[in-house]
Amino acid sequence: MQPLTVRSCAPTAEDVKTTAAPVAVFDSGIGGIGVLREIRKLLPHENLLYFGDTAMAPYGERPPEEIRSLVTRHAARLLTSAKALVLACNTATAVAAEALRGAWREIPIIGMEPAIKPALLEKKHKTVLVLATAATLREQKLSRLLKAYQGRATFYTCAAPCLVRLVEEGHLDDEVARREIAALLDPILARISPDAVVLGCTHFPFVAGTISHFLGPSVPLFDGAEGTARELSRRLEAAGICNKSTKRGRLVLTASSPASLAVMQQLL
Ligand code: DGL
Repeated sequence: MQPLTVRSCAPTAEDVKTTAAPVAVFDSGIGGIGVLREIRKLLPHENLLYFGDTAMAPYGERPPEEIRSLVTRHAARLLTSAKALVLACNTATAVAAEALRGAWREIPIIGMEPAIKPALLEKKHKTVLVLATAATLREQKLSRLLKAYQGRATFYTCAAPCLVRLVEEGHLDDEVARREIAALLDPILARISPDAVVLGCTHFPFVAGTISHFLGPSVPLFDGAEGTARELSRRLEAAGICNKSTKRGRLVLTASSPASLAVMQQLL
């Protein structure tokens, strides 16, 4: 009879290193801070490393090859220390998530999904306006998602690059924001009356108040930040790499243009 091999359940030094490693959260700029906020709420013990490529934002107007190359370069750097990567950016997800998952098969890579499903689950919304970047709207990921919900609602999509700029420049609820958002929404609202709006870019929730000012209080806005935090939690659990520490996790904020760090800190 073979002797039984008894394995210790205590984590090895390697396990400890793995579980204590940070989760990297990436966005083209400061939009991903909203996702980071949800992650901190749900997973307070995880160490987090945020990087916003603020020097190169906005990504949404760039060609897909350039976006893919920027995202891959930053992901490679972040993944030298991180145990998982959250693409807190719909644009980066739509354009580059597949390539990243192919290159880093062992690492959980969590992306954003425009919150179409939550918008339709909450209530039978019939006319749904989806605001996103031009790059997200061009990609098949979104058309596949809209196709999956075909017949449940009529979807209208619109690129809104001005919203990314407003947030990057800190115009969240001032005269400049109101003027630009009026110029974006007035022509749309002259044609359709949406009963729900999906904010398909992580920058947009930061101007949600100003958007709602034009849509009225009865039109709900949906975004994917909370769902992404929940998906990260599920993926860490499934991979067995949750940080079991009882201490609050460390947070490191970084950006390619350090001037944005103060704004990030404020929005957190
Ligand atoms: N925050 C990003 C998104 O969710 C991209 C904004 C941009 O850089 O254009 O799509």
